Amino acid sequence: MRKALASAIVLAAACAVERAPDSSVPTWRGEVASSLDASCAKCHTGALAAGGWRATSYLDAIGCVSGAAATQPGDEHAPIVNALGSDAHAGVRGSRDLLLSWVGGGAPAFRGQVHDAGIVDPRSPAFHGTLLRARKWKPMTDANDIDACGRCHDGAAAPGATACTDCHREDGGTLACTTCHGSAGHAYPPRDPCFFPGERGGAHAAHVDGTKPLACETCHPRVDGPPTGRHGDGVIDVAFDASLAGTSAAYGDRVCAVACHDRGGARPRPSWDDTTKMSCNDCHSSPPRDHYRGACTSCHRESDATGTSLTPGPLHVNGKVDLGDGSGKCGACHGRGDDPWPTTASHPAHELPGGAAPVACASCHPVPSSLKSPGHLDGVVQVIFTGNALARDARPAWNGTTCTDVACHGARLPEPVASPAWRDASGAAKACGACHGLPPTIAHAAAQDCERSICHGAEVSRSSSGLSIATIGLHIDGIIETNH
Ligand code: HEC
Ligand code: HEC
Ligand code: HEC
Ligand code: HEC
Ligand code: HEC
Ligand code: HEC
Ligand code: HEC
Ligand code: HEC
Ligand code: HEC
Ligand code: HEC
Repeated sequence: MRKALASAIVLAAACAVERAPDSSVPTWRGEVASSLDASCAKCHTGALAAGGWRATSYLDAIGCVSGAAATQPGDEHAPIVNALGSDAHAGVRGSRDLLLSWVGGGAPAFRGQVHDAGIVDPRSPAFHGTLLRARKWKPMTDANDIDACGRCHDGAAAPGATACTDCHREDGGTLACTTCHGSAGHAYPPRDPCFFPGERGGAHAAHVDGTKPLACETCHPRVDGPPTGRHGDGVIDVAFDASLAGTSAAYGDRVCAVACHDRGGARPRPSWDDTTKMSCNDCHSSPPRDHYRGACTSCHRESDATGTSLTPGPLHVNGKVDLGDGSGKCGACHGRGDDPWPTTASHPAHELPGGAAPVACASCHPVPSSLKSPGHLDGVVQVIFTGNALARDARPAWNGTTCTDVACHGARLPEPVASPAWRDASGAAKACGACHGLPPTIAHAAAQDCERSICHGAEVSRSSSGLSIATIGLHIDGIIETNH
């Protein structure tokens, strides 16, 4: 015990800045906590505490209320004293005199044997965090340091020396990221502005929280643990991840010049302290000037059709302009992978028809050889028929709803003439009788079986309603096969 006190003198000499409160001043642990507990706690507890002020711990009691420290200034103007005069407190039994002499004496936590009472008050120059930071945290990381905290705290037996982890409860204890950064469970600036008014915090919340959190190392050198080397050396290092922010990314005068923002929009170089929400037109125009026509969704997956909102996903602000699903392949916007076949309307029915060979893309569209081929991405779907569609001198046309005079659908056969609706999913257009009679009424004897090999050969199966898989390619090829 004596030994502990002897070294305490060393520590006090090193740390003490304020005088210990004189014994006439009440302390939090002595009188104040129990008094507030009895007269204030029933309304001033938890997340919904009245007026946003909590009476239930020292740090809460001395914290800020309506932007000002509850215990400052040290007279009747301190909110904690002043509030008692308000209507809300009529009938509240509390000792105004006790509070007045507590705040007048600097609102001490306790009368310390070893430390200045300011050791627990973050605003005090004697606050342990401030003392430790000034010493680059050596007293807590180096057991041989003359002020080593571990000599009395955390397991060492010194009466009254609270374990550090009583307050520092996060995994990692006093070395958790949140000990030195952030507040209320988040490990990025600012800390509680009431206790650390110098820290501005800037746009951290917007970047680190939210739907698409950025890692700290997007803007800072990588940090994996408590301070060593450049981390904690007193200089705030800003170094951008070039894959996102661009190779010429720069930071100066609290302004960011980064490819994530600087894309021709209204606020290309935002200040770090400007926390007004970014709109779609702030980084780039939405759409960019002289851009492609058509709904944004036909070429960009995460945007809505008009470019006014986004679905959170991996593509936006990932360092490259993404088209469709971002794969860079033909199927990125329509289709899948390398395959550009759309899955819309009657496309699947033509990609794999049951009763004919697959229909080539080029039967209905000019096929672009590359993304920027003329006619592609011009906002107009070109439908131009070729090949079998033109058999028997048919002149097929697309009117926006139906396809007319298409040879594949029976045009220029004796009967009937089908005009299939492109977006009709009922399957009507693929029924056996949809394109020609079964058997056709003209040029067929009524009782004749179509599966007879003397007529259409193996193409028609015995069931008379089915087609033979083996020779399916001969059906709807523009030629009426007979007797092969
Ligand atoms: C019966 C409920 C009740 C009790 C008990 C109570 N308060 Fe309040 N207190 C309120 C309400 C309601 C408000 C918010 C309205 C207001 O500010 O007048 C408030 C607000 C406050 C504020 C914030 C004032 C500001 O500047 O925004 C402080 C500080 C405060 N009370 C201190 C105390 C103290 C100290 C005690 C105990 C001595 C106490 N209160 C007991 C109901 C209570
Ligand atoms: C010589 C023993 C000793 C050493 C060394 C010591 N402390 Fe303490 N500490 C105490 C005692 C005893 C208390 C109880 C209050 C008092 O008597 O001052 C205490 C209280 C505290 C408190 C307030 C805890 C509470 O209950 O609110 C903090 C914070 C604290 N010490 C931090 C430190 C830090 C940080 C170091 C290292 C830089 C350190 N102490 C080194 C003995 C020590
Ligand atoms: C009474 C509660 C309490 C106790 C006990 C306590 N601390 Fe703290 N400590 C705090 C608070 C509050 C902060 C301010 C930062 C925060 O909000 O987390 C802080 C901050 C710190 C910091 C941050 C310093 C910086 O650079 O910003 C360190 C390091 C630290 N404490 C170490 C210790 C050590 C070591 C002990 C034990 C010897 C200890 N603390 C005991 C409450 C406490
Ligand atoms: C989008 C970029 C960006 C991201 C992401 C980011 N920071 Fe920062 N950070 C900054 C800028 C800019 C500053 C201000 C530097 C200065 O003081 O000029 C800063 C300052 C800081 C400071 C110094 C205190 C302060 O408020 O000035 C700390 C500590 C810090 N950041 C930690 C973090 C941690 C921890 C993370 C991850 C959880 C993180 N930052 C993520 C850009 C970022
Ligand atoms: C003991 C205190 C302490 C702890 C614990 C701590 N840091 Fe820091 N950190 C600092 C200080 C002080 C700065 C301010 C800039 C400087 O001095 O390097 C800082 C700065 C940073 C920065 C800004 C870049 C830089 O180095 O300037 C990042 C990012 C960061 N810390 C991340 C972390 C992460 C992640 C953790 C947890 C793994 C962590 N810190 C734990 C004290 C600490
Ligand atoms: C027909 C396809 C197409 C449509 C429709 C389209 N875009 Fe694009 N967009 C592109 C292509 C291709 C690029 C790649 C850059 C280029 O070629 O100009 C691009 C690039 C972009 C970029 C990145 C510009 C930069 O910073 O480099 C933005 C932002 C963008 N488009 C937004 C929109 C918005 C918003 C809409 C809807 C209003 C839209 N686009 C509609 C094809 C399209
Ligand atoms: C913080 C700046 C920023 C804001 C705000 C922003 N964008 Fe972008 N946007 C970009 C950047 C940078 C790109 C280019 C490359 C990328 O994705 O990294 C881009 C690309 C796009 C693209 C092209 C596809 C892509 O993801 O690459 C679309 C579409 C787009 N933005 C739409 C929007 C819409 C809609 C909004 C509003 C909800 C919006 N943007 C808000 C920075 C921004
Ligand atoms: C950026 C998204 C995107 C990519 C990637 C893309 N397309 Fe398209 N494609 C469209 C859009 C949108 C249309 C609709 C009409 C228009 O704007 O030209 C279309 C139309 C078509 C058409 C119908 C004919 C026409 O031009 O109107 C064909 C065929 C086609 N694309 C094939 C391809 C092929 C082959 C590739 C790979 C070289 C490809 N597409 C890559 C967006 C894309
Ligand atoms: C049987 C004819 C036919 C075939 C084969 C065909 N398409 Fe289409 N396609 C159409 C019609 C009709 C439309 C509707 C045009 C409109 O809305 O103006 C269309 C629309 C499109 C569109 C616009 C977006 C959409 O889904 O409506 C794209 C892109 C497209 N086709 C690409 C292709 C590609 C790529 C292939 C081949 C891999 C293909 N199409 C095969 C007839 C066909
Ligand atoms: C999408 C339109 C369409 C449908 C549906 C259709 N056919 Fe055909 N069929 C044709 C056309 C067009 C011909 C004319 C010759 C050609 O182009 O192959 C034809 C020809 C035939 C022939 C003559 C042999 C030949 O291939 O030239 C037979 C037999 C036949 N169809 C049977 C059927 C049967 C059985 C079904 C139902 C399983 C059926 N068809 C459904 C369009 C169709």
